[in-house]
Amino acid sequence: MMAARSPKVTVRRGGVEDAEAVRAMFAMPRAMAGTLQLPYPTAAMWAQRIAENAADDYLLVAEVDGRVVGNLGLHPASRSPRRRHAAAIGMSVHDDWQRRGVGSALLVAALDIADNWLNYRRLELTVYTDNAAALALYRKFGFAIEGTHRDFAFRDGRFVDAYAMARLRPEAPRARTAGAGIRQATVNTGHAKSTKKAEVRPAAHRKATKTARKRAAS
Ligand SMILES: CC(C)(COP(=O)(O)OP(=O)(O)OC[C@H]1O[C@@H](n2cnc3c(N)ncnc32)[C@H](O)[C@@H]1OP(=O)(O)O)[C@@H](O)C(=O)NCCC(=O)NCCS
Repeated sequence: MMAARSPKVTVRRGGVEDAEAVRAMFAMPRAMAGTLQLPYPTAAMWAQRIAENAADDYLLVAEVDGRVVGNLGLHPASRSPRRRHAAAIGMSVHDDWQRRGVGSALLVAALDIADNWLNYRRLELTVYTDNAAALALYRKFGFAIEGTHRDFAFRDGRFVDAYAMARLRPEAPRARTAGAGIRQATVNTGHAKSTKKAEVRPAAHRKATKTARKRAAS
């Protein structure tokens, strides 16, 4: 039976009981090549890793017909209070289930909790410069390249570069004092170099926010 091009994907929080499914996913060649995973992963290793997750370490898993076919980790980027607004993302979809919307479903769920519940302003990740699929997916969800890590990791006998990508939550710039004036405003346009001096007035707020939201959703 052919699997559907756009299957119904359910996203839920993963647990220790998903260790074997996560192991199987990361043992696949494309999943391993796109991440920092090592050959011959074990379920015990994954069970331990998942069990050690703190309350604010989110493992999301995607299911199709009750089978786990994708996973996404959303973790605080740092324990420093000054980086409380930043989180890191890593994800993988089973090789047999790629390009069917599973990765998108996981990212939609992750961005919802990051933006609307965990109050993260900045989401960051690294992606190999030759990972066209992941780059296209992340761009689609508003991530922009910020720089290149040279010889970032060793993969299948050679060093590979990786891009640092980040997405700033689209939101209106916040006024420091009542009344309009000239001040530094940051508007997420989906591009890294989006900080500019702006005359911030309520109408400008609304327009910038609307544009940013439209871009992030496209
Ligand atoms: C990157 C990855 C997570 C994408 O997941 P996915 O379920 O295949 O993604 P989706 O089906 O939701 O695709 C969403 C969009 O991403 C882009 N995309 C996905 N696969 C693509 C491919 N092979 N080539 C080009 N673009 C691709 C497209 O823009 C796609 O939208 P479209 O199908 O409407 O054109 C998946 O390919 C994967 O797990 N790869 C191996 C592990 C990995 O590289 N993880 C990322 C680490 S940074």
